[in-house]
Amino acid sequence: MKKYSVPKNFQSSVGYNTFDNYQSLREKAKQDSNSYWESVAKRIDWFDKWTTVNNSDYSKAHIEWFSNGKLNASYNCIDRHIENGLGEKIALIWQSNDPTISKNVSYNDLLEKVSLFANGLKRAGIKKGDRVCIYMQMIPEAIVAMLACARIGAVHSVVFGAFSSDALKNRINDSECKLLITQDNGVRGLKFDIPMKENADKIADDCPSLKTVVMVERSGNEMFMKEGRDITWNQFIDGCSSKCPAEVMDAEDPLFILYTSGSTGKPKGVMHTTGGYLVYTSHTHELVFDYHQDDVYWCTADIGWITGHSYIVYGPLSNAVTQVIFEGVPNYPDFGRFWQIVEQHKVNVFYTAPTALRALMKEGDDWVTKYDLSSLKVLGTVGEPIKSPEWHWYFNVIGNEQCPIVDTWWQTETGGILMSPIPGCVPTKPGSATLPLPGIIPAILDEEGNEITERNTTGYLVMIQSWPGQMRTVYGDHQRFIDTYFSQAPGNYFTGDGAYIDEDGYFWITGRVDDVLNVSGHRIGTAEVEGAIGAASGVAEAAVIGYSHEIKGEGIYAFVTLMTGVEASAEIEQDILSTVTKIIGPHAKPSVIQFCSGLPKTRSGKIMRRILKKIAQNETDDLGDTSTLADPSVIDSLLEK
Ligand code: WTA
Repeated sequence: MKKYSVPKNFQSSVGYNTFDNYQSLREKAKQDSNSYWESVAKRIDWFDKWTTVNNSDYSKAHIEWFSNGKLNASYNCIDRHIENGLGEKIALIWQSNDPTISKNVSYNDLLEKVSLFANGLKRAGIKKGDRVCIYMQMIPEAIVAMLACARIGAVHSVVFGAFSSDALKNRINDSECKLLITQDNGVRGLKFDIPMKENADKIADDCPSLKTVVMVERSGNEMFMKEGRDITWNQFIDGCSSKCPAEVMDAEDPLFILYTSGSTGKPKGVMHTTGGYLVYTSHTHELVFDYHQDDVYWCTADIGWITGHSYIVYGPLSNAVTQVIFEGVPNYPDFGRFWQIVEQHKVNVFYTAPTALRALMKEGDDWVTKYDLSSLKVLGTVGEPIKSPEWHWYFNVIGNEQCPIVDTWWQTETGGILMSPIPGCVPTKPGSATLPLPGIIPAILDEEGNEITERNTTGYLVMIQSWPGQMRTVYGDHQRFIDTYFSQAPGNYFTGDGAYIDEDGYFWITGRVDDVLNVSGHRIGTAEVEGAIGAASGVAEAAVIGYSHEIKGEGIYAFVTLMTGVEASAEIEQDILSTVTKIIGPHAKPSVIQFCSGLPKTRSGKIMRRILKKIAQNETDDLGDTSTLADPSVIDSLLEK
């Protein structure tokens, strides 16, 4: 595999300009991990210093950093920049779905908005430790709401705006949120009235803990407002003071919960705490994106996912960034939208998902070349492996061979980036997240838990040592935290990904080793989708498999058996799609549904997914060992289709 050295004209602002720099940083972190993290932690403001740097113990599944340190995340993301004379600096450049509308929010403005809303929350009875749900699209109020929670010590739980009302309800109930913040309608691409408030209305009465629903008026459409429960954003802050002191939080006080899919049915509430998470996101944001005070930064993620939390809200804002936040979609009004925005706002650092690149690449280069992209300095990707064609397109056409590509590997659970090239130091190879960041110690294990030291041999990717941004628990279910992450390979953090190390020591992620799919960079559990399909009328059983999809990376292929007497039909197919949309959301809809008379099962009744995977991938020449099948004739009927 060809190695790409750092582009000739690239000069790091952070100052890591050689591979030796990087190696010595990594060595320093390895030799004395506590001193390393202690020096990193000084980058943020603490009200009180910690007493111990790292109190984590993997053998007990216990993660704890910067014990007894006191700080506030919202203070670090706003107030301290103002104290440093950056009050007038633009924090957010909000680019509306409508290309003619954008709005700037300075750090002074942000402080005022956050303080007003934080006081509104207090007036509504929200206290430190209470959970608040945020169900919104990409509008500035979403970020204001998150920071307002952090300011008073309330724990936010952001639910991605495309999730259905059922999914919203389950998440609100799991963490017993007292208050929900939403908007009348979402506005994205040609969809001008995504029913956010209506979705909330459908389930609010089924959420016993929920007392208040705050609604931003985005579309201005007339909405049903329930007396005593619903209130508009403006009414909510009306009469509140614009001063709200930041609550003193312990380093280990929860900052947020974010639900993510695992291999079993119910999504997990991944819990992150204040000190370690903020230190880690702030540090990695600067290091990986080579962030410089004058840069304009743009991460195209949604705040509903971890990338939005770590690399739109907490990492960048704690570094006093000026950043674009974008309400719309890459193909509206046309396929040049991303590049038009880069030109308009002179974006220097651009961070997106490979799936978006694949979708845009196939529309041709003319959408790109008509814009001036010379401001770009660093290009990043996240969420899924980036394959060679889109890597080269990104490097050549978007970056004009001048910009290092940072392929960042990490997870909701890791809080921040664990592996990525550092621009300026680490030569890249298309498709490899290259090397771990300093302080991160990965290993590849075999089935028995022994380390694989041979090169180019795939195994399970684990971390053998904690880092400050690591999740602390599954909200309300610590046993699940232990079972999921610390029981497969005791003494290590089990990532759920497969990987191998090549001859240069570079890491290659081969994908999930559990039943989790990665569809357009969105994490979806097969069990969740199977459960949703099973709720459609006439369905007996479903098995869901991921298959290679040109644009989505992975597409969802569903094998479905129907109840006796029910015939496969276009109506049933439609019903399955709408049931999945209702229970999870449109992003979890299968791309292919194959009706079949039976699923391949072992004698003990376990579905042999390996065989279904081969059929879904059209690799039917060799189905492997089928001798343990209870009923081998099932295979023939599956292949007939
Ligand atoms: C996958 C997203 C290859 C991986 C930040 C991981 C990647 C899961 C990459 C986490 C990458 C993420 N290369 N695979 N650069 N980044 N993944 O929790 O399988 O939504 O376990 O976090 O995405 O997805 P999550």
